[in-house]
Amino acid sequence: MQVRAAVMRSGSGPFTVENLELEDPRADEVLVRMVASGMCHTDLLSRELPPEFFAGPQVYGHEGSGVVEAIGADVDGLSVGDHVVLTFNHCGSCTACDVGKLPYCFRLTEYNMSGARPDGTKAFVDSDGGVIGSHFFGQSSFASHSVVAAKSVVKVDPSYDLTLLGPLGCGIQTGAGAILNTLEVQPGSSVVITGAGALGLSAVMAAKVARAGTIIAVDRHANRLELATKYGATTTISGDPAAITAGIIEATGGGADYAFDTTGNAAVVRAAYEGLNNLGTLGMAGVGFGDITFDFLSMIGGRTITGVMEGDSTPSEFIPRLAQLNADGEFPFHELVTTFSLDDVNDAEAASADGSVIKPVLIF
Ligand SMILES: NC(=O)c1ccc[n+]([C@@H]2O[C@H](COP(=O)([O-])OP(=O)(O)OC[C@H]3O[C@@H](n4cnc5c(N)ncnc54)[C@H](O)[C@@H]3O)[C@@H](O)[C@H]2O)c1
Ligand SMILES: [Zn+2]
Ligand SMILES: [Zn+2]
Repeated sequence: MQVRAAVMRSGSGPFTVENLELEDPRADEVLVRMVASGMCHTDLLSRELPPEFFAGPQVYGHEGSGVVEAIGADVDGLSVGDHVVLTFNHCGSCTACDVGKLPYCFRLTEYNMSGARPDGTKAFVDSDGGVIGSHFFGQSSFASHSVVAAKSVVKVDPSYDLTLLGPLGCGIQTGAGAILNTLEVQPGSSVVITGAGALGLSAVMAAKVARAGTIIAVDRHANRLELATKYGATTTISGDPAAITAGIIEATGGGADYAFDTTGNAAVVRAAYEGLNNLGTLGMAGVGFGDITFDFLSMIGGRTITGVMEGDSTPSEFIPRLAQLNADGEFPFHELVTTFSLDDVNDAEAASADGSVIKPVLIF
Protein backbone atom coordinates (compact mmCIF):
# COMPACT_ATOMS: atom_id res chain seq x y z
CA MET A 1 0.00 0.00 0.00
CA GLN A 2 1.01 3.66 -0.41
CA VAL A 3 1.83 5.51 2.80
CA ARG A 4 3.07 8.97 3.71
CA ALA A 5 6.17 9.04 5.88
CA ALA A 6 8.97 11.26 7.19
CA VAL A 7 12.24 9.89 5.79
CA MET A 8 15.68 10.78 7.14
CA ARG A 9 18.00 10.50 4.14
CA SER A 10 21.25 11.56 5.83
CA GLY A 11 22.22 11.53 9.49
CA SER A 12 22.50 15.31 9.65
CA GLY A 13 19.93 16.37 7.02
CA PRO A 14 16.26 17.30 7.41
CA PHE A 15 13.35 14.88 7.28
CA THR A 16 11.63 14.74 3.88
CA VAL A 17 7.93 13.83 3.82
CA GLU A 18 7.41 11.32 1.00
CA ASN A 19 5.02 8.74 -0.44
CA LEU A 20 6.41 5.23 0.09
CA GLU A 21 5.24 1.73 -0.77
CA LEU A 22 4.73 -0.42 2.35
CA GLU A 23 4.89 -4.24 2.37
CA ASP A 24 2.05 -6.34 3.78
CA PRO A 25 2.54 -7.48 7.39
CA ARG A 26 4.44 -10.73 7.84
CA ALA A 27 3.14 -13.60 9.99
CA ASP A 28 4.50 -12.05 13.22
CA GLU A 29 3.51 -8.44 12.39
CA VAL A 30 0.44 -6.21 12.34
CA LEU A 31 -0.46 -3.32 10.06
CA VAL A 32 -1.12 -0.20 12.17
CA ARG A 33 -2.81 2.99 10.97
CA MET A 34 -0.91 5.59 12.93
CA VAL A 35 -2.95 8.23 14.76
CA ALA A 36 0.08 9.94 16.31
CA SER A 37 3.74 9.46 17.13
CA GLY A 38 5.87 11.15 19.75
CA MET A 39 9.38 12.31 18.87
CA CYS A 40 12.16 11.25 21.26
CA HIS A 41 15.86 12.18 21.29
CA THR A 42 16.70 8.66 20.22
CA ASP A 43 15.04 9.43 16.83
CA LEU A 44 17.68 12.14 16.44
CA LEU A 45 20.81 10.37 17.72
CA SER A 46 22.34 10.42 14.21
CA ARG A 47 22.74 14.18 14.69
CA GLU A 48 25.29 13.48 17.46
CA LEU A 49 27.09 10.47 15.96
CA PRO A 50 29.76 10.27 13.23
CA PRO A 51 28.24 9.70 9.71
CA GLU A 52 29.40 6.05 9.56
CA PHE A 53 26.89 5.17 12.30
CA PHE A 54 23.95 6.21 10.07
CA ALA A 55 22.30 3.01 8.79
CA GLY A 56 21.03 4.58 5.53
CA PRO A 57 17.75 6.32 4.61
CA GLN A 58 15.07 5.28 7.04
CA VAL A 59 11.79 6.03 8.74
CA TYR A 60 12.34 6.75 12.43
CA GLY A 61 9.65 7.13 15.10
CA HIS A 62 9.21 4.85 18.13
CA GLU A 63 6.37 6.35 20.16
CA GLY A 64 3.49 5.44 17.84
CA SER A 65 -0.18 5.07 18.71
CA GLY A 66 -2.87 3.92 16.33
CA VAL A 67 -5.42 1.37 15.22
CA VAL A 68 -4.77 -2.20 14.02
CA GLU A 69 -5.84 -2.64 10.38
CA ALA A 70 -4.51 -6.13 9.53
CA ILE A 71 -2.96 -9.03 11.42
CA GLY A 72 -0.27 -11.56 10.48
CA ALA A 73 -1.19 -15.27 10.54
CA ASP A 74 0.76 -16.09 13.73
CA VAL A 75 -0.31 -13.12 15.85
CA ASP A 76 -2.45 -13.91 18.92
CA GLY A 77 -4.38 -11.56 21.18
CA LEU A 78 -4.92 -8.67 18.75
CA SER A 79 -7.90 -7.88 16.51
CA VAL A 80 -8.57 -5.47 13.67
CA GLY A 81 -9.81 -2.21 15.19
CA ASP A 82 -7.83 -2.55 18.45
CA HIS A 83 -6.39 0.70 19.80
CA VAL A 84 -2.68 0.24 20.41
CA VAL A 85 0.44 1.95 21.77
CA LEU A 86 3.74 0.90 20.18
CA THR A 87 6.88 0.32 22.21
CA PHE A 88 10.37 -1.22 21.89
CA ASN A 89 10.87 -4.71 20.44
CA HIS A 90 12.74 -7.64 22.04
CA CYS A 91 13.87 -11.11 20.92
CA GLY A 92 11.79 -13.11 23.39
CA SER A 93 14.36 -15.87 23.85
CA CYS A 94 17.56 -14.52 25.47
CA THR A 95 18.40 -14.71 29.18
CA ALA A 96 17.07 -11.19 29.83
CA CYS A 97 13.80 -11.86 27.98
CA ASP A 98 13.46 -15.22 29.80
CA VAL A 99 13.46 -13.45 33.19
CA GLY A 100 11.07 -10.72 31.98
CA LYS A 101 13.71 -7.95 31.76
CA LEU A 102 12.60 -7.06 28.23
CA PRO A 103 14.37 -3.65 27.95
CA TYR A 104 17.68 -5.43 28.62
CA CYS A 105 17.22 -7.97 25.79
CA PHE A 106 20.68 -9.12 24.72
CA ARG A 107 19.67 -8.49 21.09
CA LEU A 108 18.09 -5.09 21.77
CA THR A 109 20.16 -3.18 19.20
CA GLU A 110 19.46 -5.65 16.41
CA TYR A 111 15.72 -5.65 17.16
CA ASN A 112 15.37 -1.89 17.58
CA MET A 113 18.13 0.16 16.02
CA SER A 114 19.37 -1.68 12.93
CA GLY A 115 16.93 0.13 10.59
CA ALA A 116 15.56 -3.24 9.48
CA ARG A 117 13.89 -6.41 10.74
CA PRO A 118 16.30 -8.70 12.64
CA ASP A 119 16.65 -10.73 9.39
CA GLY A 120 17.87 -7.55 7.61
CA THR A 121 14.80 -6.96 5.43
CA LYS A 122 13.16 -3.52 5.18
CA ALA A 123 9.47 -2.78 4.61
CA PHE A 124 9.43 0.55 2.69
CA VAL A 125 10.33 1.36 -0.96
CA ASP A 126 10.50 4.93 -2.29
CA SER A 127 9.20 6.25 -5.63
CA ASP A 128 12.58 5.55 -7.30
CA GLY A 129 12.58 1.92 -6.14
CA GLY A 130 15.08 2.57 -3.34
CA VAL A 131 14.71 0.49 -0.17
CA ILE A 132 14.06 2.61 2.94
CA GLY A 133 14.84 1.42 6.48
CA SER A 134 11.95 0.33 8.70
CA HIS A 135 11.23 -1.38 12.03
CA PHE A 136 12.98 1.26 14.15
CA PHE A 137 12.07 0.00 17.66
CA GLY A 138 9.93 -2.59 15.84
CA GLN A 139 7.66 0.11 14.43
CA SER A 140 9.05 3.12 12.41
CA SER A 141 6.04 5.19 13.41
CA PHE A 142 6.75 8.46 11.53
CA ALA A 143 4.45 7.03 8.85
CA SER A 144 0.71 7.08 8.20
CA HIS A 145 0.80 3.25 8.28
CA SER A 146 3.51 0.81 9.30
CA VAL A 147 4.00 -2.94 9.64
CA VAL A 148 4.91 -3.44 13.27
CA ALA A 149 6.42 -6.36 15.16
CA ALA A 150 3.58 -7.84 17.23
CA LYS A 151 5.94 -7.84 20.24
CA SER A 152 6.02 -4.01 20.03
CA VAL A 153 2.23 -3.69 20.26
CA VAL A 154 0.34 -2.97 23.50
CA LYS A 155 -3.46 -2.92 23.41
CA VAL A 156 -5.11 -0.03 25.28
CA ASP A 157 -8.65 0.79 26.32
CA PRO A 158 -10.45 2.69 23.52
CA SER A 159 -11.72 5.24 26.05
CA TYR A 160 -8.27 6.90 26.13
CA ASP A 161 -7.26 9.67 23.68
CA LEU A 162 -4.95 7.93 21.19
CA THR A 163 -3.36 11.21 20.08
CA LEU A 164 -1.67 11.51 23.48
CA LEU A 165 -0.67 7.94 24.34
CA GLY A 166 2.29 7.39 21.96
CA PRO A 167 4.98 8.83 24.26
CA LEU A 168 4.05 6.20 26.85
CA GLY A 169 5.92 3.79 24.54
CA CYS A 170 9.36 5.30 25.25
CA GLY A 171 10.13 8.64 26.91
CA ILE A 172 7.32 8.76 29.42
CA GLN A 173 7.58 5.11 30.46
CA THR A 174 11.34 5.53 30.85
CA GLY A 175 11.03 8.51 33.19
CA ALA A 176 8.15 7.09 35.22
CA GLY A 177 9.51 3.54 35.18
CA ALA A 178 12.91 4.62 36.49
CA ILE A 179 11.17 5.87 39.63
CA LEU A 180 8.46 3.20 40.04
CA ASN A 181 10.24 0.09 38.67
CA THR A 182 14.03 0.52 38.60
CA LEU A 183 14.62 2.57 41.75
CA GLU A 184 11.33 1.59 43.46
CA VAL A 185 11.27 4.96 45.22
CA GLN A 186 9.70 4.51 48.68
CA PRO A 187 7.15 6.74 50.46
CA GLY A 188 8.85 9.51 52.44
CA SER A 189 12.23 9.01 50.75
CA SER A 190 14.36 11.61 48.92
CA VAL A 191 14.99 11.56 45.18
CA VAL A 192 16.94 13.87 42.89
CA ILE A 193 16.11 14.04 39.18
CA THR A 194 18.68 15.69 36.91
CA GLY A 195 17.23 17.13 33.69
CA ALA A 196 13.61 18.31 33.66
CA GLY A 197 12.61 17.44 30.10
CA ALA A 198 10.30 14.67 28.91
CA LEU A 199 11.96 11.94 30.98
CA GLY A 200 12.74 14.12 33.98
CA LEU A 201 9.28 15.67 34.35
CA SER A 202 7.69 12.22 33.96
CA ALA A 203 10.01 11.09 36.74
CA VAL A 204 8.97 14.02 38.94
CA MET A 205 5.29 13.12 38.41
CA ALA A 206 6.05 9.47 39.22
CA ALA A 207 7.99 10.44 42.37
CA LYS A 208 4.86 12.23 43.54
CA VAL A 209 2.80 9.11 42.73
CA ALA A 210 5.33 7.12 44.83
CA ARG A 211 4.81 9.67 47.66
CA ALA A 212 8.50 10.55 47.92
CA GLY A 213 9.04 13.09 50.70
CA THR A 214 11.73 15.20 49.03
CA ILE A 215 11.75 15.57 45.24
CA ILE A 216 14.68 17.62 43.89
CA ALA A 217 14.73 18.69 40.23
CA VAL A 218 17.89 19.95 38.51
CA ASP A 219 17.97 21.78 35.17
CA ARG A 220 19.73 24.73 33.55
CA HIS A 221 16.45 26.31 32.38
CA ALA A 222 14.27 28.19 34.89
CA ASN A 223 11.06 27.50 32.93
CA ARG A 224 11.67 23.73 33.15
CA LEU A 225 12.24 24.00 36.91
CA GLU A 226 8.94 25.91 37.24
CA LEU A 227 7.22 22.96 35.54
CA ALA A 228 9.03 20.54 37.86
CA THR A 229 7.63 22.46 40.84
CA LYS A 230 4.15 22.37 39.31
CA TYR A 231 4.36 18.56 38.99
CA GLY A 232 5.72 17.83 42.46
CA ALA A 233 9.33 18.94 42.96
CA THR A 234 9.88 20.25 46.49
CA THR A 235 13.32 21.76 45.70
CA THR A 236 14.86 22.96 42.44
CA ILE A 237 18.54 23.50 41.67
CA SER A 238 20.27 25.24 38.79
CA GLY A 239 24.01 25.74 38.68
CA ASP A 240 27.44 24.16 38.30
CA PRO A 241 28.17 20.60 39.53
CA ALA A 242 29.43 21.75 42.95
CA ALA A 243 26.23 23.75 43.48
CA ILE A 244 24.12 20.74 42.46
CA THR A 245 25.81 18.44 45.00
CA ALA A 246 25.68 21.07 47.75
CA GLY A 247 22.01 21.77 47.02
CA ILE A 248 21.10 18.08 47.23
CA ILE A 249 22.95 17.58 50.52
CA GLU A 250 21.32 20.66 52.02
CA ALA A 251 17.79 19.73 50.87
CA THR A 252 18.10 16.15 52.16
CA GLY A 253 20.01 16.86 55.37
CA GLY A 254 23.00 14.72 54.32
CA GLY A 255 22.36 12.93 51.02
CA ALA A 256 19.59 11.60 48.80
CA ASP A 257 18.23 8.04 48.77
CA TYR A 258 17.89 7.97 44.98
CA ALA A 259 19.13 9.92 41.94
CA PHE A 260 17.96 9.61 38.35
CA ASP A 261 19.86 11.23 35.49
CA THR A 262 18.28 12.25 32.20
CA THR A 263 20.91 14.81 31.06
CA GLY A 264 23.57 12.39 29.77
CA ASN A 265 26.10 14.98 31.00
CA ALA A 266 28.98 13.31 32.85
CA ALA A 267 29.60 16.22 35.25
CA VAL A 268 25.91 16.40 36.19
CA VAL A 269 25.72 12.61 36.68
CA ARG A 270 28.71 12.74 38.98
CA ALA A 271 27.28 15.71 40.90
CA ALA A 272 24.08 13.75 41.52
CA TYR A 273 26.05 10.66 42.56
CA GLU A 274 28.04 12.75 45.07
CA GLY A 275 24.75 13.99 46.51
CA LEU A 276 23.67 10.43 47.46
CA ASN A 277 23.86 8.98 50.97
CA ASN A 278 25.87 5.76 51.57
CA LEU A 279 22.92 3.53 50.68
CA GLY A 280 21.85 5.67 47.76
CA THR A 281 21.24 4.43 44.22
CA LEU A 282 21.87 6.32 41.00
CA GLY A 283 19.93 5.35 37.87
CA MET A 284 21.28 6.58 34.52
CA ALA A 285 19.04 6.94 31.45
CA GLY A 286 20.37 10.05 29.67
CA VAL A 287 22.53 9.08 26.69
CA GLY A 288 26.11 10.34 26.77
CA PHE A 289 29.30 9.35 25.00
CA GLY A 290 32.80 8.68 26.35
CA ASP A 291 33.90 7.89 29.90
CA ILE A 292 32.56 8.84 33.29
CA THR A 293 34.43 8.53 36.61
CA PHE A 294 33.28 8.02 40.20
CA ASP A 295 35.26 8.24 43.43
CA PHE A 296 36.65 4.83 44.43
CA LEU A 297 36.05 5.01 48.19
CA SER A 298 32.52 6.37 47.93
CA MET A 299 31.57 3.39 45.74
CA ILE A 300 33.00 0.93 48.27
CA GLY A 301 31.03 2.84 50.88
CA GLY A 302 27.87 1.21 49.56
CA ARG A 303 26.31 3.26 46.75
CA THR A 304 24.80 1.59 43.72
CA ILE A 305 24.85 2.75 40.10
CA THR A 306 22.49 1.19 37.58
CA GLY A 307 21.68 1.77 33.95
CA VAL A 308 18.03 2.39 33.13
CA MET A 309 16.56 1.19 29.87
CA GLU A 310 12.91 1.96 29.11
CA GLY A 311 12.21 2.28 32.83
CA ASP A 312 12.44 -1.49 33.40
CA SER A 313 8.98 -1.60 31.90
CA THR A 314 6.94 -4.67 31.11
CA PRO A 315 5.02 -2.63 28.53
CA SER A 316 1.88 -4.80 28.42
CA GLU A 317 1.32 -3.99 32.12
CA PHE A 318 3.06 -0.65 32.65
CA ILE A 319 1.65 1.31 29.69
CA PRO A 320 -2.01 0.59 30.64
CA ARG A 321 -1.11 1.44 34.26
CA LEU A 322 0.30 4.84 33.23
CA ALA A 323 -2.71 5.51 30.99
CA GLN A 324 -5.01 4.77 33.94
CA LEU A 325 -2.97 6.98 36.30
CA ASN A 326 -3.37 9.74 33.70
CA ALA A 327 -7.12 9.17 33.47
CA ASP A 328 -7.27 9.35 37.29
CA GLY A 329 -5.53 12.76 37.22
CA GLU A 330 -2.40 11.50 39.02
CA PHE A 331 0.01 11.50 36.10
CA PRO A 332 -0.68 14.50 33.80
CA PHE A 333 1.96 13.69 31.16
CA HIS A 334 -0.38 14.97 28.42
CA GLU A 335 0.43 18.52 29.56
CA LEU A 336 4.01 17.99 28.25
CA VAL A 337 2.75 17.33 24.70
CA THR A 338 2.65 19.79 21.78
CA THR A 339 1.21 18.44 18.51
CA PHE A 340 2.52 18.99 14.96
CA SER A 341 1.28 17.72 11.60
CA LEU A 342 3.51 15.19 9.83
CA ASP A 343 4.41 17.84 7.23
CA ASP A 344 5.84 19.98 10.05
CA VAL A 345 8.18 17.24 11.31
CA ASN A 346 11.25 19.50 10.96
CA ASP A 347 9.55 22.20 13.02
CA ALA A 348 8.87 19.57 15.68
CA GLU A 349 12.58 18.71 15.80
CA ALA A 350 13.56 22.40 15.97
CA ALA A 351 11.10 23.08 18.79
CA SER A 352 12.48 20.16 20.77
CA ALA A 353 16.08 21.26 20.15
CA ASP A 354 15.51 24.87 21.25
CA GLY A 355 13.70 23.69 24.39
CA SER A 356 10.39 25.42 23.61
CA VAL A 357 8.55 22.09 23.37
CA ILE A 358 9.01 19.23 25.83
CA LYS A 359 7.34 16.36 23.97
CA PRO A 360 6.52 16.91 20.28
CA VAL A 361 3.86 14.57 18.91
CA LEU A 362 3.20 14.20 15.17
CA ILE A 363 -0.46 13.81 14.22
CA PHE A 364 -1.48 11.85 11.11
N1 LIG B 1 17.62 4.96 28.58
C1 LIG B 1 16.48 5.01 27.94
O1 LIG B 1 15.73 4.03 27.88
C2 LIG B 1 16.07 6.28 27.24
C3 LIG B 1 14.78 6.39 26.69
C4 LIG B 1 14.42 7.60 26.10
C5 LIG B 1 15.32 8.66 26.05
N2 LIG B 1 16.58 8.49 26.56
C6 LIG B 1 17.57 9.58 26.60
O2 LIG B 1 17.28 10.37 27.75
C7 LIG B 1 17.76 11.70 27.57
C8 LIG B 1 16.68 12.70 27.96
O3 LIG B 1 15.60 12.64 27.05
P1 LIG B 1 14.46 13.75 27.14
O4 LIG B 1 13.50 13.42 26.07
O5 LIG B 1 13.98 13.91 28.55
O6 LIG B 1 15.32 15.05 26.74
P2 LIG B 1 15.01 16.59 27.07
O7 LIG B 1 15.88 17.40 26.18
O8 LIG B 1 13.54 16.81 27.01
O9 LIG B 1 15.47 16.77 28.59
C9 LIG B 1 16.82 16.86 28.99
C10 LIG B 1 16.89 17.98 30.03
O10 LIG B 1 18.19 17.97 30.59
C11 LIG B 1 18.59 19.31 30.79
N3 LIG B 1 20.06 19.36 30.79
C12 LIG B 1 20.88 18.91 29.82
N4 LIG B 1 22.16 19.13 30.16
C13 LIG B 1 22.13 19.75 31.36
C14 LIG B 1 23.14 20.26 32.23
N5 LIG B 1 24.45 20.19 31.92
N6 LIG B 1 22.74 20.82 33.40
C15 LIG B 1 21.43 20.92 33.71
N7 LIG B 1 20.44 20.47 32.93
C16 LIG B 1 20.79 19.90 31.76
C17 LIG B 1 18.00 20.07 29.61
O11 LIG B 1 17.87 21.46 29.87
C18 LIG B 1 16.63 19.37 29.43
O12 LIG B 1 15.61 20.05 30.14
C19 LIG B 1 18.23 11.75 26.11
O13 LIG B 1 19.62 11.57 26.13
C20 LIG B 1 17.53 10.56 25.46
O14 LIG B 1 18.22 10.08 24.32
C21 LIG B 1 16.97 7.34 27.17
ZN1 LIG C 1 15.91 -10.97 24.23
ZN1 LIG D 1 12.89 6.98 22.85
